[in-house]
Amino acid sequence: MTEDGKTQHTSDHRMQDGHGTDVGYDADCPRRGTSRRAHRRGTGVETPGGPSRTMGHGAFSRRGFIVAGAVSVMAMAGWAVFRFVGSLPFPISINDVPMTVSAGTTYQDLVDGGDLVVHAGDLLAVDGTVLTPLAGTPSTIYEAGVPVSDARKPIPHGAVITSANGDDVTEDTVTTTTPEPYTTLIDGAGAISTLVQQGIDGTQTQVAGVQSGIVVSTTETVAMQPLTITAANAKTAGDKVVALTFDDGPSPYTPAILDALAVRDARGTFFTLGSQVEEYPTYSVRAVSEGHQVATHSYSHPNMFELTSEQVHDEVQLGISALATATGVTTTTFRAPYGNWSEREWAATSDLITRQVIWNVDTEDWKRPGADAIVSNVMRNVKPGRIILMHDGGGDRSEDVAALPTILTNLANAGYRFVTVDELTAYL
Ligand code: NI
Repeated sequence: MTEDGKTQHTSDHRMQDGHGTDVGYDADCPRRGTSRRAHRRGTGVETPGGPSRTMGHGAFSRRGFIVAGAVSVMAMAGWAVFRFVGSLPFPISINDVPMTVSAGTTYQDLVDGGDLVVHAGDLLAVDGTVLTPLAGTPSTIYEAGVPVSDARKPIPHGAVITSANGDDVTEDTVTTTTPEPYTTLIDGAGAISTLVQQGIDGTQTQVAGVQSGIVVSTTETVAMQPLTITAANAKTAGDKVVALTFDDGPSPYTPAILDALAVRDARGTFFTLGSQVEEYPTYSVRAVSEGHQVATHSYSHPNMFELTSEQVHDEVQLGISALATATGVTTTTFRAPYGNWSEREWAATSDLITRQVIWNVDTEDWKRPGADAIVSNVMRNVKPGRIILMHDGGGDRSEDVAALPTILTNLANAGYRFVTVDELTAYL
């Protein structure tokens, strides 16, 4: 409907133009010719009796005017015909649909008039939605199969016009690689925490539209592996073993502790401070030589929660190295001062330690309640597989020295064997 209407309109318009031009030619040209002839005729009538020079000249001029006039009239008539024919509407086809256009019509006229419907492609987002209409590749108009370079050129007679819409273009994508720091997981609960899997940072690769920001894909290029720790207590199934542990030494009380253990041929575990080991290295050497386990309790006994991760690492590393320097034993077993240890501290020291060991029974010897109370605290709370906390350093440990022989005797009488923390981990 619309196309037919437009076509009709265009034809009518052209007809009017053609007619107007035609009328102008017909009306103007003969009138001028008539006027010139009348003028020449008048001149001849007015000068019949004039001098021969004038007569001769006048005769020559008249013939010349007549010839010139005739040629001129013929030329003008020919031009008029040419212009007339050239101005006539002519047929073309647009995408196989025939129509008639007037002379001088351009391709752009067809587009503007809606007779040639063609459009550029759109710029699409990565999800296919339109980002910017008509910002894709441009459309193309063909005449006889050849792309039209200038749409403002007049359409030739009989033009066979075809068109192709532009293609949609999808926006570019950008690939972003993001590191995925490993997390730390502590599973379970209990006095013995064991590192079971080191953490590995992952890498995420994301592909997204440059303009839209729409995410096409997110892939884990390198899988993140959490630092994994399992906490548990020893499960001895009734096997009567117990781990006596001594913190904050070595100190001048350590030899007496070692003596008491030797009497019962009992094994204990010493969570040493690096600063104390440096001061009393021979006590740690003796502990090792007598079959005890030496581990670290940091260098200077700080509250790890108040330190930076780097400081936490340094404290543990210095504790380990001081003990290694003194005894040749490089421990990977650690006890946090005050038991203050969490995921962050594990992440800070996972290159140094594989175990963080607290306790099940606190003798509360640090309160100095008297040797009997210390003995009583042990005997009331002991169960197979338990870890008992005592001290051989960090102040006056005479109550520990006094209590230990009784503790050993009572536990032995109750059927207990004394094992190191390492030995106890066989029951995890
Ligand atoms: Ni301590």
